Amino acid sequence: MALRLGDEVPNFTQNSSEGEINFYDWAGDSWVVLFSHPADFTPVCTTELGTVAKLKAEFDKRGVKVIALSVDDADSHKGWIGDINETQSTTVNYPILADVDKKVSDLYDMIHPNSLNNLTIRTVFIIDPQKKLRLSITYPASTGRNFDEIIRVIDSLQLTDNYQVATPVNWKDGDDCVIVPSLKDPEVLKEKFPKGYTEVKPYLRMTPQPNK
Ligand code: BEZ
Repeated sequence: MALRLGDEVPNFTQNSSEGEINFYDWAGDSWVVLFSHPADFTPVCTTELGTVAKLKAEFDKRGVKVIALSVDDADSHKGWIGDINETQSTTVNYPILADVDKKVSDLYDMIHPNSLNNLTIRTVFIIDPQKKLRLSITYPASTGRNFDEIIRVIDSLQLTDNYQVATPVNWKDGDDCVIVPSLKDPEVLKEKFPKGYTEVKPYLRMTPQPNK
């Protein structure tokens, strides 16, 4: 069955461009972005993996480790990494799982045969330090992903895990947030949101981002 938000993600051991990886051991206490792509030496994937490498400082700042996957083998990945580094002016700084036997692809339901036969489509998973699935997005092979959006969601998850807020449409770090509807007691609201809040409707209360 497909993984659903809140599920504990399965562990696995698989070869990669950096040697054998036990996923849980490798992830440790970090957040993880696990993303699959259809195949090595393909144009869209080349741009994606280069962009992810350039975002390393942003992922590090948020305590996030990144790992890619395709069903090609580790030698192929190593050859392709040379091309990514050359063409995207970067250095790939994260492992690419070599899921030749499709063990991980099957566990994470990354092969959608009616879209792309026998190859992994573009899935992205955000996994928290408790190994719970917090986001999954599936893209068609023809559409490169927007990794700025993935970082935006990580910012929202890390904020809303710690404060009783949610983030509104197109929110980005630093913007006003909404107070969760379950919070109603005016005394509690005053204590939790010392910067104040604006009540647009009783269920729509805006407050400055609490940790800024
Ligand atoms: C690509 O990464 O460029 C790609 C891969 C599979 C199908 C279409 C495009």
